[in-house]
Amino acid sequence: MSEKLIKSKQRVKDFAEVFTPKHIVKDMCDLVPEEMWVNVETTFLEPACGTGNFLVEILERKFKLCKDWEDGLRALKSVYGVDIQQDNVEEAKGRLFDMYIKQYPKAPAISGLIAAQILERNIVCGDFIKDQMINKKRRRK
Ligand SMILES: C[S@@+](CC[C@H](N)C(=O)[O-])C[C@H]1O[C@@H](n2cnc3c(N)ncnc32)[C@H](O)[C@@H]1O
Repeated sequence: MSEKLIKSKQRVKDFAEVFTPKHIVKDMCDLVPEEMWVNVETTFLEPACGTGNFLVEILERKFKLCKDWEDGLRALKSVYGVDIQQDNVEEAKGRLFDMYIKQYPKAPAISGLIAAQILERNIVCGDFIKDQMINKKRRRK
């Protein structure tokens, strides 16, 4: 099945929203130095995460380092995403949550609640460019 890379022409115009195909996401992640993939807690931030294409690939790679569901939560805790459109944020959170549940089907129910809380905090709706400018100004003061 071919991947859907745009949601609408209007969104492309308004938000430059064109999603990255899976094979390119993989190639780009392969360019990230190897030492970034050895520790489950290494932090990744996707400042324009869309529906989470890069976050999904990063989490997939991190899960390979995890021995149990608690490690899985550590992995989840280390990925951050921002997008300016709420529906993308919800989709990204949903994809990461489903991945966690699928990876650890026998984990206690509480772990699902914790996973949801982590995602609520880490994957957020915002204007990354504007927020960066505000933070820069604050740091200068
Ligand atoms: C080219 S798409 C890439 C999405 C995703 N990274 C991927 O590769 O599939 C750009 C994304 O940036 C988001 N975006 C545009 N302006 C933004 C801003 N100022 N802050 C955060 N996200 C933004 C759009 O909503 C869109 O989802």
